[in-house]
Amino acid sequence: MPHKPPPTAALLGAIRTVVGDRGMLTDPTDTEPYAGDWRRLYQGRTSAVIRPGTTDELAAVIGLCAAAGTPVVPQGGNTSMVGGAVPDENGSELIVSTARLNRIRDLDPADMTLTVEAGVTLKAAQTAAAEQGCLLPLSISSEGTAQIGGVLATNAGGNNTVRYGNARDLVLGLEVVLPDGTIWNGLRRLRKDNTGYCLRQLFTGSEGTLGIIAAAVLKLVPRPKEVAVALCGVDSPDAALTLFTRFQTYDAASVSAFELMSGLGTEFVLKHIPGAVLPLESAAPFYVLAELASPRPGAGLRGMLEQILEQALTDGTILDAAIAASEAQRSAIWRLREEHSEAQKREGASIKNDVSVPVSKVPAFIRQATAACHALMPGVRVVPFGHMGDGNIHFNLEQPAGSDAAWFLAQDHAIMDTVNAVVRAYDGSFSAEHGIGKLKPYMMPDWRGGAELALMQRIKAAIDPAGIMNPGKLLP
Ligand code: FAD
Ligand code: MLT
Ligand code: ZN
Repeated sequence: MPHKPPPTAALLGAIRTVVGDRGMLTDPTDTEPYAGDWRRLYQGRTSAVIRPGTTDELAAVIGLCAAAGTPVVPQGGNTSMVGGAVPDENGSELIVSTARLNRIRDLDPADMTLTVEAGVTLKAAQTAAAEQGCLLPLSISSEGTAQIGGVLATNAGGNNTVRYGNARDLVLGLEVVLPDGTIWNGLRRLRKDNTGYCLRQLFTGSEGTLGIIAAAVLKLVPRPKEVAVALCGVDSPDAALTLFTRFQTYDAASVSAFELMSGLGTEFVLKHIPGAVLPLESAAPFYVLAELASPRPGAGLRGMLEQILEQALTDGTILDAAIAASEAQRSAIWRLREEHSEAQKREGASIKNDVSVPVSKVPAFIRQATAACHALMPGVRVVPFGHMGDGNIHFNLEQPAGSDAAWFLAQDHAIMDTVNAVVRAYDGSFSAEHGIGKLKPYMMPDWRGGAELALMQRIKAAIDPAGIMNPGKLLP
């Protein structure tokens, strides 16, 4: 496809009239950080970052872009792991940031709903819910920066999916600016509403390719009154699976997180993150972080944790365990898990495989994918971790020690294809929670080709016939 020309001065002037000076960044020093991604895989270019302050302003901006045929890249916190929010290198696309759409419009503790604008960070939304005795049950390590619009547009998963589901399970209503600049007001907060196609679910997970989410109504749940967290050392993912099955059998409804970490990934955290400490006597090949939570005071979660872990220690399922005795200990344990991505980044270049397989197949998948990667690239450092309770493993690889980072990153397709061959053998998914973005559209024909991809392309063409919404992302 030929590149579109850069936005004209007339278009930029008209947009400035709508959003004002504070709604627009044009100095390259200001726009550059918005044009590169968190992983530093891509660096695009744009002549402006547009920051509308209201949904009406957003709609007017998109209307002007549509009339001019100028493509736009919706952007929230820019924490995409797949380059979903970066513009192309030719400067033809405008970034539309939701950062100033940051109002909490309503919180209803009786209906258990939260109505927020797209630019509210996930952390701010969680805090607002907590202040009213409620829980917004979605937690990801990037929550301080990621915004509700981005979280919904990627259908984020994270640490509590095992209990509460993905972002899409929490969406009751949406307000969306469509590619022609019209506003769809679907900001309903009903638990039941069977009135035709479920449009809110179409926009959730659409990665900015169908429209811009301006606001959302999210489901809340009661805030847990009791929480218990443990870190366990195990010698293999098989042992972790045995432990998971025990928790599920004992009381599946209490399990709010069940995360796996490799010994090497945890070593990176201890090495690179100031203040990180392992609360166990010795290092282990793998670790499990298990969290139990209940809205009922006096639920006896600590007793349950002790009982399961004592038995697991006795029969050798786990090597060691530490149960948090305070909020400080609890967050110290969580820090070991949440800092994995940051620590891996500080260690060097990494190639990520955000994949899922049936939970029961996680150990076999890790074993086989590890062997396949070592055969492909001797010395590559395998760092599998993630949301074991959902079968979602971040099968990440760190460059071999002493190797050249650019050389390593140039092997990304070979490595991802090698891992995906194992994923396919277990009927898994090549993108469990991070989405497709700019990194993975080439995989779509192979994995979703035929009727499924054709249907997606028809939906895209129907909603965005001019193709101005986030070109080059999601669809090949
Ligand atoms: P952006 O990166 O700004 O955008 C992501 C995509 O959504 C882009 O395609 C963009 O065009 C589109 N988009 C953004 N806003 C809108 C909008 N308002 N309307 C329409 N489209 C929009 N993800 C998980 O699922 N689970 C995790 O555990 C997890 N952990 C992470 C940890 C770290 C350290 C980092 C850096 C990322 C992690 N992610 C995780 C990935 C990322 O997908 C999430 O951080 C988050 O969902 C993205 O939100 P954002 O606001 O940064 O979106
Ligand atoms: C996480 O769960 O911490 C992120 O999704 C993982 C990643 O870095 O791949
Ligand atoms: Zn994750």
